[in-house]
Amino acid sequence: MPRPGPSRDRHALYEASVQCPEADVQFFDRIYREWNGELPRLLREDFCGTAAIAAAWVRKRPDNQAIGIDLDGPTLAWGRRVHIEPLGEAARRLQIHQADVRSVKRPLADITAALNFSYMVFHERVTLREYFRTSRAALAPRGVLILDIFGGWEAQALTTETRRKPGFTYAWEQAGFDPISGLTRFHIHFRFRDRSEMKRAFTYDWRLWTIPEVRELLAEAGFKKTVVYWEGTDLKTRGGNGIFRRTSRAKSCPGWVAYIVAGA
Ligand SMILES: C[S@@+](CC[C@H](N)C(=O)[O-])C[C@H]1O[C@@H](n2cnc3c(N)ncnc32)[C@H](O)[C@@H]1O
Repeated sequence: MPRPGPSRDRHALYEASVQCPEADVQFFDRIYREWNGELPRLLREDFCGTAAIAAAWVRKRPDNQAIGIDLDGPTLAWGRRVHIEPLGEAARRLQIHQADVRSVKRPLADITAALNFSYMVFHERVTLREYFRTSRAALAPRGVLILDIFGGWEAQALTTETRRKPGFTYAWEQAGFDPISGLTRFHIHFRFRDRSEMKRAFTYDWRLWTIPEVRELLAEAGFKKTVVYWEGTDLKTRGGNGIFRRTSRAKSCPGWVAYIVAGA
């Protein structure tokens, strides 16, 4: 009997390739506890897409609440169907807004997360700072903003990185990088066993921001403190070990991913 193939749904393929909401929400708890000595309650997921993280948040504890914000109606509708409706009663604790992240100022969140580098959609200092200002204004007094960031010299190379997943291959192509503007273009493609391909399932036009630039803009937007969480090294593979710790100096390496946490 032929085995069922993987879903050809681009959102399902994206989530299976680049998201791990359970690990994200565990990380948020750890960070907030480290900063404030207690657990957070209200999570705001900016650029939430399918709101997979917001849904995992309300599933995690019965008093957790979340809001998710994204511009894209069809993506939000997919998330409603796949992640939010199955929550049943708990769905009442999750609000979704189809809006620009810079326009939503309430409710005040304990944690705002903007993951998978989505804030890089803002290309100028002035627009990124405006986003950080709104983000701070929409945080509770002890709230934290959590961002991820990537870099290293490979982040400027026009290459395609592939990763095998059950039933398909995820391909992350850097199609352009302009050293003068810092603007860069990425495509996500999915390839299947029968050699068919979903080309350019997602495209991102981002500015490749650096850690010091982002920290300076956070400070200019009024955040009191920023901390970098840098990934440790796996002694066997010499690659990242998935454990992120507060770090103030790091060694140069070809490619890295880190978190920046900013306290309101
Ligand atoms: C890279 S995806 C991130 C999806 C998901 N949050 C994740 O972590 O994988 C970027 C998302 O940001 C949304 N987006 C882009 N600009 C936005 C803006 N100004 N306000 C709200 N959402 C925006 C897009 O519609 C898209 O769903």
